[in-house]
Amino acid sequence: MIRVLLGVWLVGSLPFMSLAQRHGADTTYQQVFRPQYHFSPRANWINDPNGLVYFDGEYHLFYQYNPFGTRWGHMTWGHAISRDLVHWRELPPAIAEEGDTMIFSGSCVVDKTNSSGFGRGSTPPMVAIYTGHQENRQSQHIAYSTDKGRTWTKYDANPVINLNKKDFRDPKVFWHEPTRRWVMVVLLPTEKKAFFYNSTNLRQWTKTGEFTSPDSPATIWECPDLVEVPVDNTVERKWVLLVSMGGNAPAGGTGMQYFVGRFDGKTFVSESKPGEPRYVDYGKDYYAAITYNNLPVRGNRGPISIGWMNNWQYANDLPTTAFRGAMTLPRELKLVRQTEGKTTRYDLRQRPVQELKQLLDTPFRMVGTDVTAFNRQLAYAEPLTDAYLLTAELETKPGDKEYRILLHKNPQNDADATVIGYDMVKQQLYVDRSRVGQTGFHKDFPGRYTAPLKPQNGRISLQIWVDRSSIEVFANDGAVTMTNQVFPDPANTGIRLLGNGWQAVTIHPVAGIWR
Ligand code: FRU
Repeated sequence: MIRVLLGVWLVGSLPFMSLAQRHGADTTYQQVFRPQYHFSPRANWINDPNGLVYFDGEYHLFYQYNPFGTRWGHMTWGHAISRDLVHWRELPPAIAEEGDTMIFSGSCVVDKTNSSGFGRGSTPPMVAIYTGHQENRQSQHIAYSTDKGRTWTKYDANPVINLNKKDFRDPKVFWHEPTRRWVMVVLLPTEKKAFFYNSTNLRQWTKTGEFTSPDSPATIWECPDLVEVPVDNTVERKWVLLVSMGGNAPAGGTGMQYFVGRFDGKTFVSESKPGEPRYVDYGKDYYAAITYNNLPVRGNRGPISIGWMNNWQYANDLPTTAFRGAMTLPRELKLVRQTEGKTTRYDLRQRPVQELKQLLDTPFRMVGTDVTAFNRQLAYAEPLTDAYLLTAELETKPGDKEYRILLHKNPQNDADATVIGYDMVKQQLYVDRSRVGQTGFHKDFPGRYTAPLKPQNGRISLQIWVDRSSIEVFANDGAVTMTNQVFPDPANTGIRLLGNGWQAVTIHPVAGIWR
């Protein structure tokens, strides 16, 4: 399946710079750990994506940004735009910290009917809804733009919701067509409670419901999203509540879980089985993902999410220079209906958006042999780039114990490498970054992370997106994803496949988005 897709994805070759060239200059997105096809800020710190919204040909990506440094602080909404979700242009910061109030996470809508009254002329206003953070209080604020997000005015009657709480944050607002209302989902993080509000004008809000899940393993909840997701191969749609877990995620530290259920415009009811938390991603670096508002109709394509590719355990200590933090690839979300006996379950599927195909160069040829040789045990390759997509089909055989792909391999030995493996006994996919490149900057960085995964008809398909400082793995058509940062020695670029069963291995260089 993936192979067929890739066949269609092939595009003409682009020249690649030499490693020396790429690791020299410091000003042009060429630092040693600078992501080549993931968004990162030109300079300074970022965390959560905020205000993802499509408007008039532009995908907006706002984000938590510190204009003054490479560590968290002075929270301001930074801003970038894209016409294709792939190439980003950074704009000046959008909504700035002011006085004692920092601009925390939130969302953005296009107010097509000018329900808020902020519009001027015929262009609908964009309205941002965010948390105003003060030392002992968090409340919900709004700001608006009448020039396609270029300049913003804070509403003079802020806050629009104030419960006099220290922790009350991260509003996600969207238009709910059936009830013709704006809906907000916002959290009491420490109580692990979601509150739902309705509004007709984005200024006045009425509380309509609450959701909590006593058996959530999370320490606290942050950055919720509530979104309707199509069920693959049906006309059905279900509501998915995404929640970021401030601690106790499967790989340790921060991560994300989701609930599948129904929403009547007022409150969310989970239909997910209690006691069986569902995780969005099993890697260590997937947080605060939210979905786009106002996407153009694209057939039955699902919503698109972007997350922050990081973990709060060590986010302030990453060994990057000039900038710190990056976003994940945009992912399209779907549900797959699974029936087991009398019970029906809906599983989340995440696939990198189709738009990324434009970055794929013709498949890489192995040094000294050709791609078909990958079918043999102990194949070895040295790609000419450190940004590539590796796809593979694994045909598992009963009796086999383990299959492995080594990336960032030291040509001299197999020990220095990132390992992506499949453990047949435990039926687990894993990523082990404990022995690759820089790991010592924080005790919680090195590690081996696992995800439950069963072969389908004996097979496992893998899409592995490798960038200069990250690896996003999509297994079995997005049934399991694992997102992890890595900081390899740029001299170690070897790839090796261990175990008999690897089929149809392709390596596509991925073109950088900053040139
Ligand atoms: C999540 C978060 C949000 C908050 C923001 C502050 O990463 O803690 O809850 O709004 O970051 O930067």
